[in-house]
Amino acid sequence: MKLVRNKKLKKIISSEKYILDYRKHKSSDLKFKVQNLINQIGFCVIDNLIDRKLNIYVEEIKKAKKRTKFNTELFKKLLDKKFSEKDILNYPNLEVRKSKFSNRKCKLVNDIFWLQKFSNQLGNKNFTNIIKFILDDHVRIGQIHSRYTKAEGIKPSKTIFKNDDFGLPRVISGNKNSREWHTDWPHDPWAYGGGKKSENIGCIKEPFPDLIMGLVAVHHLSDPGELGGTWVVPGSHKSGISPRHKNFSYIKAFKDEFQVKVKAGSVYLQDTRLWHSAPVLGETFSERAIVVSRWYPWWLQIDDYAPSSRFNIVARPLSKRDFESLPKNLRPYLLYLCNEKNENINDALVKRTKLNLKKSFKFLKNENHKQNK
Ligand SMILES: [Fe+2]
Repeated sequence: MKLVRNKKLKKIISSEKYILDYRKHKSSDLKFKVQNLINQIGFCVIDNLIDRKLNIYVEEIKKAKKRTKFNTELFKKLLDKKFSEKDILNYPNLEVRKSKFSNRKCKLVNDIFWLQKFSNQLGNKNFTNIIKFILDDHVRIGQIHSRYTKAEGIKPSKTIFKNDDFGLPRVISGNKNSREWHTDWPHDPWAYGGGKKSENIGCIKEPFPDLIMGLVAVHHLSDPGELGGTWVVPGSHKSGISPRHKNFSYIKAFKDEFQVKVKAGSVYLQDTRLWHSAPVLGETFSERAIVVSRWYPWWLQIDDYAPSSRFNIVARPLSKRDFESLPKNLRPYLLYLCNEKNENINDALVKRTKLNLKKSFKFLKNENHKQNK
């Protein structure tokens, strides 16, 4: 990849123009600046977007890690013991929810359930207005997950792999040169499920069209310290391909890579097509508390496939009660997950179509008038 050698991109990176301080920009200008950066380099960082309750969120994420582990293990145990669907749904202290599809079995509750304090941040209009400006007025959050990791200075000499629950080879540990380059769904050629039909959620055919189909947001609740931010290849979102191919050493450092600078309170925003890698834990003592959310426009199907998956993180459901306990600002983006609610196309789109219809009527009226002259 030689894209970062493009002078303009290089300047954006070296002068740190990819970092926008939320406090220094009017919201009306900020959305254009973010859009430009996403188009040009494929990512940006918005500093100081998250309010000052960072420690509260970090504590919540730590608790969420323990609670989701307990919940997932309990669910696995009940499935192994062949509990009925009814018994699983009623099992005490197990948080599973009915799918919005009546012919599908229940899944683990959406991860926002464990992040009630943080949920205000995710629905913050200062943030969601930017997402909507870039994608469309009607958007959905396809996946949410929090991560809490603390590296303990272990120094492995090589990159260590392990197959995940879906059979995909994942880097679980490594040294400072270890990476795990990839593009995100729907531009992920492994499609989560790989060769497993029942877990495969689909992937976009290469070369990828030059169109933003999704944005990934990483809310940083702690300073990443030595570990640093996401590794990226600036401009790679325009390459049309993913690094998950035999032609690339997707586990090694790339010549044109760059590690994004983030701090507690920043939000890293990225086009799903961008080549990126999370920093691989190993040699540092850093703490990392993040929430990853994946945003898609109304027209992209998110959960039509892998209908029998019980554990993937895609479109995990919410009950009506969960939904109604969410902050009002966040509800529109998660409404599609609730099987007791119906989702209409949102008011902004209805308004847009009304206006278009009005224009078409006006045009016809003029045409008629010309013909009758
Ligand atoms: Fe990713």
